[in-house]
Amino acid sequence: MRQRITSDNESSFSASAAAEQLFKFHEWSEPLRCLPVGLAEPPGSLKEGAIAALQAENLDQKVEITRQVAFQWWNGVLGVGGAVGARPPDRPGRPLEPRLVAPRNLKKRSIRSQRGRIALLHAIAHIELNAIDLAWDIVARFADPRAKSDHRMPRSFFDGWVRVALEEAKHFSLLRQRLIELGSHYGALDAHDGLWEAAQATGHDLTARLAIVPLILEARGLDITPSLLRQIEAVEDPESAAIFKIIYRDELGHVAVGAKWFRYLCLRQGLEPAASFQILVRKYFRGPLKPPFNDFARCRAGLTPGFYRALSSASQ
Ligand SMILES: [Fe+2]
Ligand SMILES: [Fe+2]
Repeated sequence: MRQRITSDNESSFSASAAAEQLFKFHEWSEPLRCLPVGLAEPPGSLKEGAIAALQAENLDQKVEITRQVAFQWWNGVLGVGGAVGARPPDRPGRPLEPRLVAPRNLKKRSIRSQRGRIALLHAIAHIELNAIDLAWDIVARFADPRAKSDHRMPRSFFDGWVRVALEEAKHFSLLRQRLIELGSHYGALDAHDGLWEAAQATGHDLTARLAIVPLILEARGLDITPSLLRQIEAVEDPESAAIFKIIYRDELGHVAVGAKWFRYLCLRQGLEPAASFQILVRKYFRGPLKPPFNDFARCRAGLTPGFYRALSSASQ
């Protein structure tokens, strides 16, 4: 049974106080404004929960496992580690649709038409689905119970990535619901696999993974979301605009989580953060970074221009 969050039910209200802080239930669309469903087979650890979310092919299940694991982690029920040898899958579980095609085969449409707006929301929903899996992949890959204590990441590192996974699940769910309201659905259009592929070369190196996923790919979202938001507002779609505002605010936090732990890892290895970032990006990311950059938002997240300016196509 789902426990509804209502102000007239005292027991669910008290249970909801901490959960509300974590989930921000009012930002989810129905029917997810409630505590997560208990899983038939609860994970034995955060790592196992992350692997279960990654493996889920059914997207309702992927979201619900994400919500449940986040809830259990924040309630202190789960430890970090797990079965020695448990490994995340090379590819996340996915439904048969959408079909994955090369980026050049995706049609570009103006968002002034409803079809164009649906294509944009579908593309962002696909990015958010990848983002759920990328957050869980960081947790599953780098929660190593065998690591020596000076190589283990502190619990607060996992707090950050569990929150990221939960927020990505919220973003995906909101966009998926909006697509239905507009007469479409996630899976109706083609998508590409670029995000997952861009991250995979860094599966062995957490510092490189943080450079590429939050500090390149998610920071790019900070650059482009304000202009997308302006375009959505210009075509008078306040419901979609409200979702983009939530995404933009949350993504700033995701880049901040990445920047904080990237600096932490550099300091632990005696490396200079900005120079190390540039070395890793040149090694693991194809092509220069495209300006314009949202310097203000990037700085607020702790990603200062000294990190990325030298990698910009404008400086080469
Ligand atoms: Fe997101
Ligand atoms: Fe994100």
